[in-house]
Amino acid sequence: MHVETEIVYKLVHLKDWSNCRPHEGTALAVIGHPIAHSLSPVIHNAALAELGKTTPEFNEWRYFKFDIAPEELREALDLFHQNNFLGLNLTVPHKALVLEYIHTDVTAVEESGAANTLKHSGKGWMGFNTDGYGLNHALEDESVSIPGADVILLGAGGAARAAALECLAWRCASLRIQNRTRSTIHSLISHLKKSTALASTTELIPFDSEDSELGAGAIVINATSLGLKAEDESPLDLTKIPRPAFVFDMIYRPAQTALLLQATKLGIKNANGLSMLVHQGAASLELWTGEKAPIPTMQQAVRAALS
Ligand code: ATR
Repeated sequence: MHVETEIVYKLVHLKDWSNCRPHEGTALAVIGHPIAHSLSPVIHNAALAELGKTTPEFNEWRYFKFDIAPEELREALDLFHQNNFLGLNLTVPHKALVLEYIHTDVTAVEESGAANTLKHSGKGWMGFNTDGYGLNHALEDESVSIPGADVILLGAGGAARAAALECLAWRCASLRIQNRTRSTIHSLISHLKKSTALASTTELIPFDSEDSELGAGAIVINATSLGLKAEDESPLDLTKIPRPAFVFDMIYRPAQTALLLQATKLGIKNANGLSMLVHQGAASLELWTGEKAPIPTMQQAVRAALS
């Protein structure tokens, strides 16, 4: 059966899933609030169809998208399990909030305090984090290298935590963190200071655009949700800092946020989060299926959806 990848389901549908479910097999989903923009169903359903060509079992798997508010998260997790959902992806604002309700023995989740992937096992929902992996591979696709770089990270929520940890693990020279809520920067920094990934030489500080120590050539990473709405302003004025070498925005829809638009105007190399979405999605799919993810199929599906 064809699944409409743009349908946004809600808690009310999940409560009545046995009556309204579009299929009987194993289910997967991405949950967020907002979620309408998400291309994860497009990518994963294309990947499952490809896997189904050699392993017919995957023809019975489907991936959906659900708009779940933070206060609905706990109830939704129980209902997803009761309704045969094997795996979930989490996006804004659930990545850090979900830690209260899951088990994990994964260092990336414990040290970042955030999970973007869940898999149900005998113990309940187990948390994983494939965001750092996805970010690193997306930067690699652009020939941008984290080791030795100065990184300016915008945001201190779930996605930013995973990005911060990845930058530390890859031995960036310095990590500067900016966030709308200043207190969250400090709690993230004290959390990261306990990380086994932190090298003694890495500078870890709140970002201040007056920072006289910051030279040109930094990597700017936007991990805030500012930019998801077309009318959103940029989280950073790039003319106020020494010229960065690269600007990466985790947002992929709209394809060009105000931040990326300014980078392009200034002639600074930049990329949106599409490639990160594919790589983190591939790692999640491998956790659920135990099969190698068909990355070219996933890339093709996402390009077709956007064209
Ligand atoms: P995710 O799980 O995807 O990381 P999150 O944990 O809710 O989502 O984090 C969202 C990030 O975007 C936070 O850094 C948030 O800043 P606050 O800590 O101040 O809430 C940031 N953010 C969200 N809306 C924003 C806005 N309008 N302006 C600036 N930053 C914003």
